Amino acid sequence: MILVTGATGSVGRHVVAGLLAEGHRVRAMTRDPERADIPEPAEVVPGDLGEPDQLGAALRGVRALYLMAMGGVADRLVDVAARGGVRRIVLLSTGDVLDDVERQPDAVAEVHAAFERAVARSGLEWTFLRPNEFAGNSLQWAAQVRSGDTVCAPYPQARTAPIHERDIAAVAVRALTESGHHGAKYLLTGPEVLTHADQLAAIGTVLGRRLRFDEIPAGRARELMTRYAPAAIVDAVLDQLAAAVGRAPVLTDAVHEVAGRPARTFEEWACEHRPDFT
Ligand SMILES: NC(=O)c1ccc[n+]([C@@H]2O[C@H](COP(=O)([O-])OP(=O)(O)OC[C@H]3O[C@@H](n4cnc5c(N)ncnc54)[C@H](OP(=O)(O)O)[C@@H]3O)[C@@H](O)[C@H]2O)c1
Repeated sequence: MILVTGATGSVGRHVVAGLLAEGHRVRAMTRDPERADIPEPAEVVPGDLGEPDQLGAALRGVRALYLMAMGGVADRLVDVAARGGVRRIVLLSTGDVLDDVERQPDAVAEVHAAFERAVARSGLEWTFLRPNEFAGNSLQWAAQVRSGDTVCAPYPQARTAPIHERDIAAVAVRALTESGHHGAKYLLTGPEVLTHADQLAAIGTVLGRRLRFDEIPAGRARELMTRYAPAAIVDAVLDQLAAAVGRAPVLTDAVHEVAGRPARTFEEWACEHRPDFT
């Protein structure tokens, strides 16, 4: 049995689908089973990663765990999983985590690094997925695109290598179900470096419209974003975007090497998500 946490999430839902397509037995965890739309024949279990001691039923019979760095109690969570019989953990981390440093660059990297440390210390088989920016982050512009051609956002010239969430999931499925991935830290990127302005233009091409950014200052963005997220996380995200204006990420071929097919382009992602923007 494979337990998928974050099974309703942007990557987790594709991990569930990918495992089911290959005939694996899947248990999908969510905090709200009533609301979750999990495909059959996956079992659905309630669970909160912030309450590891309540996860006994979710972990029963589980050998491999797809883990999200959520809930904030990494050590206890990994300990409970190991005692429950889990033998392999595939952790969705982030490409922002740095190896061999005393301090991580920001709060987002530190949250994920704490989970990586706990998993690496566990004595279990482990694989870390370290993706670049998700293509799906561009959904943050969807409401504005639905109501007009201008998107107000900071740092339109930030350069990233947006990765399709299905490609992260495809790598997760291989690491969950095959041997040979123990100790791997897969830096996962899409196939191209794009600015946020390029991404918005690509969405416009799919819609047959000319979309443009109206750049807002970081201070204004911070004011808006802290209404929904903790200040330390907002600062980390804005700092990452500021740094990404001057520094393009290194592209990797890890998706192709592990999942056996080239990483999808942002244009492919945009075509699939056309309805979200109309
Ligand atoms: N977005 C990016 O560009 C990016 C890049 C690199 C790494 N990451 C990392 O990837 C992960 C996913 O990010 P996302 O923003 O795309 O989120 P998401 O997967 O869309 O949604 C979060 C998922 O986590 C579950 N979840 C949240 N809190 C939970 C808890 N306490 N216990 C159990 N499940 C919980 C939710 O499930 P229920 O609501 O159903 O319980 C939901 O399925 C994060 O760790 C993020 O830092 C993101």
